[in-house]
Amino acid sequence: MSAQTVRFDTLPFALAELRPELDAAIAAVLDRGQLARGPELPAFEAEFAAECNAHYCVGVGSGMDALELILRAYGIGPGDEVLVPAHAFVATWLAVSHVGATPVPVEVDPRTYCLAAPSVRYTGLVDALTPRTKALVAADLYGRKVPTRHLAPFCKLHGIALIIDASQAHGARAVDGTERGLIGDAAAFSFHPTANLGCLGDGGAVVSDDASLIERVRHLRGYGATVDAGSDVHGLHSRLDEIQAAVLRVRLRHLDDWNRRRQDLASKYLAILQGQVEVLSPPGDAASCDVWHNFVVRTSRRDALAEHLRKAGIETAVDPKVPCHQSAAYAREFAGRSFPVAEALAAQCLSLPLSPHHTADQIGYVAAAVRTFIAAR
Ligand SMILES: Cc1ncc(COP(=O)(O)O)c(C=O)c1O
Repeated sequence: MSAQTVRFDTLPFALAELRPELDAAIAAVLDRGQLARGPELPAFEAEFAAECNAHYCVGVGSGMDALELILRAYGIGPGDEVLVPAHAFVATWLAVSHVGATPVPVEVDPRTYCLAAPSVRYTGLVDALTPRTKALVAADLYGRKVPTRHLAPFCKLHGIALIIDASQAHGARAVDGTERGLIGDAAAFSFHPTANLGCLGDGGAVVSDDASLIERVRHLRGYGATVDAGSDVHGLHSRLDEIQAAVLRVRLRHLDDWNRRRQDLASKYLAILQGQVEVLSPPGDAASCDVWHNFVVRTSRRDALAEHLRKAGIETAVDPKVPCHQSAAYAREFAGRSFPVAEALAAQCLSLPLSPHHTADQIGYVAAAVRTFIAAR
């Protein structure tokens, strides 16, 4: 195969494909002249709630705001503890810290890379509980739903809220393929531009079936303002504006198709790479439930593999680069604590290019380059 350049970020191609629809949607907002509090936001909220099989959706300013608003709406704050995965994107932890609560990391299962109920004993979820525990935030990392069905009874039994950080799994189904949504008590989504469902800047949403929780989130996102008595709480200002909502309505129409393209390309990778290198993928048929936000391989020679691919013109990414407990923001708080699975994952994981705008030929080229690296061992 001849040398190619394979970019990791294909956002320009995504925008080019949708450009006529985006131009029309944005023009409609500009013609209306209402950049906030117009019709696009409630329309998007209804459409995205339906997409998630949920009753309610509230658009907010970012994924991290969505997490923070959920925690605050539950009244979680100083003195409270929140269980979080040790292997996570740092925003999952930061949201807990922002409300003044303490993130309590729990190791992920080394086979599923998430907090999985069959491994509850292993992951130490039970051991991490204290009378101060108020919630568990589980993350659908890399595009795969956490086993909400198993985690929900655990949370119910212990009287804590189950919050799903679904920022990497828009449109994903449960691993058995039967349901979509699976939002726990409440889910937070990010719509950053490279998300499976992304806007043109920052955006996020809270999704839930709980009407009173949603009412509190709505109140908190708008300064905690009341009709005529000013703010009755220290609220946030966290807005999903009309242009972003209009853009998301366009993107939402393509979500299933674009996720299917990701799944087809992931199948191609799997056909070539499985058995050659460890792939962070769900078992068997469940690969078609994963929406493959990232296609992640794991090797103890990660940096050498990345360099080998770079020389072949292939961009890759590492996420997270540092386990959260070792990042500067948390190193002091967690000094002397070790989470070996999270540490190994951060040291060994590499995301290969995969998006709806890569071609099968490009995926074949990358997979062949990975195989060449392995064969040269
Ligand atoms: C798993 C996860 N949680 C939270 C966030 C934060 O979202 P935002 O950047 O919109 O604040 C992200 C963003 O990529 C994410 O991937």
